[in-house]
Amino acid sequence: MRVPGDKSISHRALMLGGLASGSTRISGLFEGQDILSTASAIRAFGANIRKNGEDWIVEGVGNGCLLEPEGVLDFGNAGTSMRLVMGLAGVYDMETRFTGDASLLKRPMGRILDPLRQMGVQAQAEGGDRLPIRLHGPRTANPISYRVPVASAQVKSAVLLAGLNTPGITTVIEPVATRDHTENMLKRFGAPIDITLDKQGARHISIDGQCPLKGQEITVPGDPSSAAFPIVAALITHGSDITIENILMNPARTGLIATLQEMGAVIDIENLRSQGGENVADLRVRSSDLKGVTVPAERAPSMIDEYPVLAVAASFAEGETLMQGIEELRVKESDRLAAVANALEVNGVDCTQGRDYLSVRGHPGGKGLGAMTKDARVATHLDHRIAMSFLVFGLAAEHGSLVDDASMISTSFTGFMKLMADLGANMETAA
Ligand code: S3P
Repeated sequence: MRVPGDKSISHRALMLGGLASGSTRISGLFEGQDILSTASAIRAFGANIRKNGEDWIVEGVGNGCLLEPEGVLDFGNAGTSMRLVMGLAGVYDMETRFTGDASLLKRPMGRILDPLRQMGVQAQAEGGDRLPIRLHGPRTANPISYRVPVASAQVKSAVLLAGLNTPGITTVIEPVATRDHTENMLKRFGAPIDITLDKQGARHISIDGQCPLKGQEITVPGDPSSAAFPIVAALITHGSDITIENILMNPARTGLIATLQEMGAVIDIENLRSQGGENVADLRVRSSDLKGVTVPAERAPSMIDEYPVLAVAASFAEGETLMQGIEELRVKESDRLAAVANALEVNGVDCTQGRDYLSVRGHPGGKGLGAMTKDARVATHLDHRIAMSFLVFGLAAEHGSLVDDASMISTSFTGFMKLMADLGANMETAA
């Protein structure tokens, strides 16, 4: 089987393609709702984006030449897209307005507005730096050196993208490494990027702004964050043996695979190869007897989106799984720490949540777990990863599982239900 293209790489390919001069061809682009939000924002800045056969072609405007969008940019559920575009466009001497769906309206934007304000951007937000937000850049943006206060690839990326339209050197200092797709792709499009490590191990990433960018050919590998769902499904479902082809194996994204292997998961990494500057592999996954482990806080950035589905694997493991240093889960598409803990409880799993941790005590075999009554329904809070995780949960729980909404799954994993059904899963939408 295959899963859709990587969402993080897809967003960045459209954005940099839209900014570069000349044409960018993207193959394997993820075509879910979140990426369509990026595409319509980039079109609103003047770029031309069209599909040509299986590929997408982007004709960019040239660095520094974004046009002022006419209306409000509505990013729906797509937090990554919106935060990166705030960096990309916010430093322009024009007005850009941002909004999103009910989930995005609740998410904190101060982490992006703070560095942009230091660069000279005027930001007007509703109470407490939430959406809707208006940004207006200065005549000439001010290059900054910014130490990111939270481990966030979105914040790092927003500042680097803002640096593209800023004269001089903009530097991001990242004490804890996060996914490096922005800096890799900026380099690929020809931006002068310099990366060094200081004595404390922090990464200093600098961009020399107002540089030309040139259109590229980009191949997007399969998304490891989407592969996580069939991986865990196969591990917890007796007799499974599946192979998921062409998955991105960037070490900044493979924390879940390492954790599951420590838990005793049989996951073979086959045909490891380099493709378009990234490592990809095929993953063969067989059902496995899992045991609980402690997942250290340092691993969180490399599996930040995978904790909900890890909690599902932990529900069927022997003993306790302790996930440390995961306070960032509280500001995702939902408060994922609370949403996961509630969903586990609804399904009869014993767990404890703290401000920044979750511990789960598993039931190998899944006896007694699941939706005992029609009211035992998981509240998904417009969060695709909660929905997919707790559908997967039902595969191994004695009483199956129920989620209150699956419509938002298409924001990140188009065809999820069909793909799981093709693997033999019995998932259905109630009337
Ligand atoms: C992403 C970064 C992560 C992740 C999100 C995608 C990205 O967010 O949760 O799904 O593509 O940069 P944070 O940077 O807020 O941790």
